[in-house]
Amino acid sequence: MNKKGFIFDLDGVIVDTAKYHFLAWKELAKSLDIEFTEEENEQLKGVSRVRSLEKILAWGNKTISEELFNDLMGKKNEEYLSYISEMDENEILPDVPRVLNLLKVKQQPISLGSASKNARTILERVNLKSSFDAIVDGNDVSKAKPDPEVFLIAAKQINIKPEDCIVFEDSVAGVTAANTANMISIGIGSKAILGHANYVFKDFTEISDDFIASLIEN
Ligand code: BG6
Ligand code: MG
Repeated sequence: MNKKGFIFDLDGVIVDTAKYHFLAWKELAKSLDIEFTEEENEQLKGVSRVRSLEKILAWGNKTISEELFNDLMGKKNEEYLSYISEMDENEILPDVPRVLNLLKVKQQPISLGSASKNARTILERVNLKSSFDAIVDGNDVSKAKPDPEVFLIAAKQINIKPEDCIVFEDSVAGVTAANTANMISIGIGSKAILGHANYVFKDFTEISDDFIASLIEN
């Protein structure tokens, strides 16, 4: 059987954690007297924690000391962790288990490729850790998406050439990273935002078993 590498982003692909990031960032922004909207939160999808705080400070026209910056990063994560500690299997996005199971049946290597440093905790909470042959996350990379580093490391860990890998991504930066890595990019979300992906689907309910089979064969 042909072997392809299937690499999944986490936030926005497997689970919808953007709402928890939003609550935690909003709390932090409020403490700095910065208004933070859901539209701005959209722009933080796929963006690293450091870069997210830099963007929020820029939107609010604030400059702060390095010490406070690091302190706020820690506080944001504590707040975020308090939300994700309540997560369970019910938060897995529709049809993600069907696709993961199909790939397992077809003996395809599966890796996570996430910017989050909390990826392992989240996978444990939703009971999906054992579905992955490799987990590459924000702790393993030095360059954030749109740099392809996270996906290239993932490909290496599952022993599949980048051009034989398929990436599921919901963020603009993540799709760019997959394209730069010379992988097939599958956008999860809207065509208007992810038009640079090879394929775009609203969510996994739109991805048929036949489509997955065709990715494996071609
Ligand atoms: C990405 C999210 O997956 O991970 C971003 O889309 C988030 O919103 C980034 O900032 C880093 O996550 P964490 O959990 O390490 O703060
Ligand atoms: Mg994402």
